[in-house]
Amino acid sequence: MSLLRLGLFASGTGTNLQAILDSCVDGTIKATPAVVIGNNSGAMALDRARRASIPTVHLSSKTHPEPADLDEAIETTLRSHGVELIALAGYNKRLGPRTVSAFRNRILNVHPAPLPAYGGPGLYGLHVHEVVLEAGEVQSAATVHLVDEEYDHGPVVAERPVRITPDDTPESLQARIRAVEHELFVETIGKIADGEIDLDEIAARAG
Ligand code: GRF
Repeated sequence: MSLLRLGLFASGTGTNLQAILDSCVDGTIKATPAVVIGNNSGAMALDRARRASIPTVHLSSKTHPEPADLDEAIETTLRSHGVELIALAGYNKRLGPRTVSAFRNRILNVHPAPLPAYGGPGLYGLHVHEVVLEAGEVQSAATVHLVDEEYDHGPVVAERPVRITPDDTPESLQARIRAVEHELFVETIGKIADGEIDLDEIAARAG
């Protein structure tokens, strides 16, 4: 049986990316990381991919100033590596409409808060945790969702709650959620690869 081919996107530190790469090696995820695409050529995430001998490609407004050209280059790169499922593992750009539609219901994102309540433009990094704490929530979450044309908008595929403690700071909450993101993202991709999660069914149910 041939393994599911993953296309991975990352912009920064790449701890989620690392968790996915490690899980493909130890067999928790029955998939092959086919390519890692980054919009920031100096990102630690790309170093992690290179260290794991995964092909890396830098595609950004620097390589393709026209958004439509960038969108086309991304789709072409994914297709040329035979990608079947995409995981945005800390990718801070929005994918273009061509790529989203070519891989409809096959693009996952991980978000460090409950959706749809705490998602959308601007709700990323430490700021999203600040907003959750300011709202007086008693719990937050790590969320994996399908990607559509809008930020943090597609149907939720998996969500794991994370309790907020009275002494939490945005930093402490971020660190605790980050660890849960790693587990949840790996488990979710693993279940998709094993056929236990049907993304088309989730999308259809969400309408
Ligand atoms: C994660 O919190 C993820 O939810 C968000 O960006 C962060 C990336 O962290 N989309 P890392 O690069 O995986 O360490």
